[in-house]
Amino acid sequence: MQEENKRVTRLLASGPAGIAQAASILRAGGLVALPTETVYGLGGLAANPRAVAAIYRAKGRPSFNPLIAHVADVASARREGVFDLRAEKLAEAFWPGPLTLVLPLAPGASVCDLARAGLDSVALRVPANALTRGVIAAAGGPVAAPSANLSGHVSPSTPAHVLADLEGRIEAVLNGGACLVGVESTIVALLGGAPRLLRPGGVSRAEIERVLGEGLAGAEAGALVAPGMLASHYAPRAALRLDAQHLEEGEAGLDFGGRFTGAPGRVLDLSPGGDLTEAAANLFSMLRALDAGGAARIAVAPIPEADLGEAINDRLRRAAAPRG
Ligand code: TXA
Ligand code: MG
Repeated sequence: MQEENKRVTRLLASGPAGIAQAASILRAGGLVALPTETVYGLGGLAANPRAVAAIYRAKGRPSFNPLIAHVADVASARREGVFDLRAEKLAEAFWPGPLTLVLPLAPGASVCDLARAGLDSVALRVPANALTRGVIAAAGGPVAAPSANLSGHVSPSTPAHVLADLEGRIEAVLNGGACLVGVESTIVALLGGAPRLLRPGGVSRAEIERVLGEGLAGAEAGALVAPGMLASHYAPRAALRLDAQHLEEGEAGLDFGGRFTGAPGRVLDLSPGGDLTEAAANLFSMLRALDAGGAARIAVAPIPEADLGEAINDRLRRAAAPRG
């Protein structure tokens, strides 16, 4: 499956025409690399699970880490995350800018399950680049965007860096020149309890602590904590049985390619036609729906290890692992 290599990647000019073109590609479910003050982001509409699955796919060797939802302003951010007083203070002091806030998901939020990797929290930031804020506003919703590089490569700070990795894999790059900050945003979690520094970045710990009037827990001075390590993984309440050939008594089924068709019990199919991008788009929301049905165990049909299947299987194995 090499379809991502058949596309021609357009370089969109900075300015109103480029903004309009980028927004229309996003609204159609396509991917556009967008300049931010930190690094270029690989953007897709955060509310569209197919677009988000395509983001993971375009990066190659994908893993379903939760993504940052980029919003045009604080008012949009408040529709996605629950702001406490500390979040309000940090947003006021540092947005637009290189700070990401991880907040409890707001009721009615639009960021899809896959973009949050199934978590009940959401990472939000208002980027400083005015072109990109214009694109987000014109696209009509938050834009999920990890750094616009292939998995394992360094983050891109020019359109040429983006094209070197993603030419032919995405619809377009919006030309915003070189990024000024060049390192990723600082990530702070405000999920009750002490505020935690999940990733050091463009805003220093000292600046954040000064605004908060309190210390940040998490990465100690000098020690770099990988954000993926601290992000608690979504885990269903039900036990999972992987590589199931059929349903057993009392099990709910998470199917792929119609294997459980006709079986008794509640079954949801990640992709009846066997499409891994569609399966990725449905993964977390279907797991949640089956879990909410109250089954003690969920049987999961075999999923090929190819393409996005690798990331799907990685998440399923984590979800199936015994927890203490
Ligand atoms: O500067 C940046 O932040 C760039 C530009 C494009 O905005 N973006 C970026 O995204 O660095 P990415 O995907 O490479 O890093 C996002 C990090 C992930 O490592 C993830 O663990 C963390 O944010 N994250 C996202 N949502 C989270 C959540 N709900 N809980 C904990 N961590 C979260
Ligand atoms: Mg990155």
